[in-house]
Amino acid sequence: MKKIAILNGPNLHRLGKREPEIYGNLTLDDILGSVKDHAGERAEIVHYQSNHEGDLIEQIHTWSDAGISLGIINPAGFTHTSVALRDALSSCSIRFVEVHLSHIYQREDFRHNSVTAPACVAQISGMGAHGYKAALDYLLSL
Ligand code: DQA
Repeated sequence: MKKIAILNGPNLHRLGKREPEIYGNLTLDDILGSVKDHAGERAEIVHYQSNHEGDLIEQIHTWSDAGISLGIINPAGFTHTSVALRDALSSCSIRFVEVHLSHIYQREDFRHNSVTAPACVAQISGMGAHGYKAALDYLLSL
């Protein structure tokens, strides 16, 4: 069975409580549960969330060294700032789809630039929790 790594960045553990008018009412566990259901027997999901840039980077290296080749990342606020995270994405052997729950291009100007997306195979923005499932389907089609 294929393995898909899901990496979520800062503040995403607060989904459900955090600005629900922007990010919706589902918790991170709700989203992961629905992605796992959607994957069914097609893929095994492994997940990591952290509020710390270095921890996210180390997790990418760990998964890459373990031979995982497909991933979904929501870098959250680090999307717009983190050269170090982008370098980790570029240098690893995992093909990542970048997912944003909200439509980052309809929001504040500083969210319009993703430092990390060029190191990913695709980006999904504005589809809410469905974006994670769409990313999974795409990765399994590769
Ligand atoms: C986000 C969008 C980012 O701009 C923001 O900093 C987040 C969440 C999203 O999923 O819509 O934390 O990545």
